[in-house]
Amino acid sequence: MSRKVLIAGNWKMNGLMADSQALAKEIAVKVKALRPNAEVLVCPPFTLLTTVKKALRGSKVMLGAQDCSTFDKGAHTGDVSPIQLKDAGCDYVILGHSERRTDHKESSTLVKAKAESALNAGLKVIICIGETLDERKAGKALEVTSKQIKASVPSMSTASNTVIAYEPVWAIGTGQTATPDDAEEVHAHVRKVLAEKLGKGVATRMRILYGGSMKPANAADLLAKEDIDGGLIGGASLKAADFMEIISKVK
Ligand code: 13P
Repeated sequence: MSRKVLIAGNWKMNGLMADSQALAKEIAVKVKALRPNAEVLVCPPFTLLTTVKKALRGSKVMLGAQDCSTFDKGAHTGDVSPIQLKDAGCDYVILGHSERRTDHKESSTLVKAKAESALNAGLKVIICIGETLDERKAGKALEVTSKQIKASVPSMSTASNTVIAYEPVWAIGTGQTATPDDAEEVHAHVRKVLAEKLGKGVATRMRILYGGSMKPANAADLLAKEDIDGGLIGGASLKAADFMEIISKVK
């Protein structure tokens, strides 16, 4: 079963208008020239969505946000609704990133509710899961990720509207990457849990991305693994050259 690789850049809380516009334009031009065998997505902060959308015009590079509300509209100061994201031109929204689970105490139940709202608004979702270093050391990586999948992924998820991102918390922004074999072990396990939850057909076609210090030097080995269907890239997605080099590793 061949799954289209997705390379997604999570810009996190980085970028101002001018540099982000330049970065998005450079990515758009280079992706057009490279014509990679992968889908490409960039996820800037809310304030830059419109600017980046304009900079990507005419290219196949897609736009995503990094979070959304469970509500469609109303008295929810500081929140942004999935309908607003769709209106701003977003294709995707990242949900349940470990930085949100930690900084904003987001539970898997909340992540699932956000995913349902986003899917109802016509967005695609990238649902993030991953164990902490303590959990890994205690041999609980598979148990923790199973629980997160079961509680965070809505039953309305399909292979075309939902992507999973496995991001071991200890590998995010640390320069410490999971070995391809360690990552593959979790990815294969996640696919098994998805099959129990959504059926084998959906699980076989659903993409599972790896995230956590993915960079040009390790991307090819990670992407070569059977159940690794792309990357969710933080730091290396902020430099067009590095991001493009990762994209160019897709076979
Ligand atoms: P880094 O690539 O900077 O480790 O970040 C990964 C990540 O959290 C992507 O969502």
